[in-house]
Amino acid sequence: MNNSCYLDCASSTRVLPEVSHTYITALSDYFPNPSAVHAEGKKSFNFLNEQKEKISEILKIKPEQVIITSGATESNNTVFHQIKNYYKPEDGRVLISQIEHGSVFNPAQDLAELGYDVRFIRVNKEGTVDLEHFASQLEEPVIFVSTMLVNNETGIIQPVDKMVEMAKNKYPNLLFHCDAVQGVYPKIWHCLGNVDFFSLSGHKFHSPKGIGILVHPESYKIKPLLLGGGQQDNRRSGTMKPALTAAFTKALEISWQQRRNKIEKLNQAFLEIFAQSLPQINIKGKTQNRIPWTLNIGFPGITGSTLRRALARENIFVSQSSACSSQNEKMSRILQAMGANSQWGHIRISFSYLHEEKELTAAAHKIIECYRKYSLVKTSTDQ
Ligand SMILES: Cc1ncc(COP(=O)(O)O)c(C=O)c1O
Repeated sequence: MNNSCYLDCASSTRVLPEVSHTYITALSDYFPNPSAVHAEGKKSFNFLNEQKEKISEILKIKPEQVIITSGATESNNTVFHQIKNYYKPEDGRVLISQIEHGSVFNPAQDLAELGYDVRFIRVNKEGTVDLEHFASQLEEPVIFVSTMLVNNETGIIQPVDKMVEMAKNKYPNLLFHCDAVQGVYPKIWHCLGNVDFFSLSGHKFHSPKGIGILVHPESYKIKPLLLGGGQQDNRRSGTMKPALTAAFTKALEISWQQRRNKIEKLNQAFLEIFAQSLPQINIKGKTQNRIPWTLNIGFPGITGSTLRRALARENIFVSQSSACSSQNEKMSRILQAMGANSQWGHIRISFSYLHEEKELTAAAHKIIECYRKYSLVKTSTDQ
């Protein structure tokens, strides 16, 4: 990827060299099947458990709460599988926010088709869940709530801790799930509050694709989504994967440390360039309720696809919405829910701590140049 600037880290991140090294080494050192009863299998099993202990130490949970999955899509679907199995439609409402990723939104639609009373919690113009609307939906019995920690298209942090408090105050036994995929950031981890379940995906923080986790309450009896050999204490069948788990763990350890100061400086420097040159643009969310590496920017007088394509010709790769829905030229479901101006073009820019400031500065100037070239709105500074 020389001479190109990849600004789509919310969809996937580059695997770190240390992570590749850990992966390759573990592939040969711990290839025996961790479920095998012989000594070599036991070694793989113990290695895998060591990884889970490290994950748990960082995330302040217990290793017994962790299920290794193929990614957050599986983790999220597993949580909805619990609702189908343990509750009947008449037991109470299911609440999810309007801005959930498809891996929560579509399983919720599926529950609705099965007759469950699924309600979608509105978001405000700032892109955060409308707590008044949430409170009104808690008026009738609720069995389950799912809301994300950080939105994948805007980088906006959601008031998960407040929602857990509100929901559990009324219904102490309801289950609360949080898709925390985009929120692996120590500074906001407290916002996760006392959720019961949360999901993470490795490829969002420099691990290879194909691995994630689901964290569940300690004494909870998981109804497995995948049936088979009964691995992971009958919670998730499928041969366990020591090397991929080690890669995930290494990436989490490093990203947990690295997603601190540098990324905030990069964010500030990037935003200052826009503030000086294009004050008319609209950056979704305030700086204090956004993670510092994902921005969604609205530009007047241009479509998102025109700007994205112009940037691609300059080898700058951004997206218009999430990678899963970016083939669709219509305004995304998330921006629509926020009431964003459909006449404006929106792009998502997401970087990582592996970027250098000068690389991002150059990209910011290019974005401004492309916008000025193709925008139909000309101001005195744009002429
Ligand atoms: C918020 C969110 N949830 C879930 C997912 C799905 O994760 P995975 O690719 O691990 O299935 C993504 C990935 O785009 C995401 O951004």
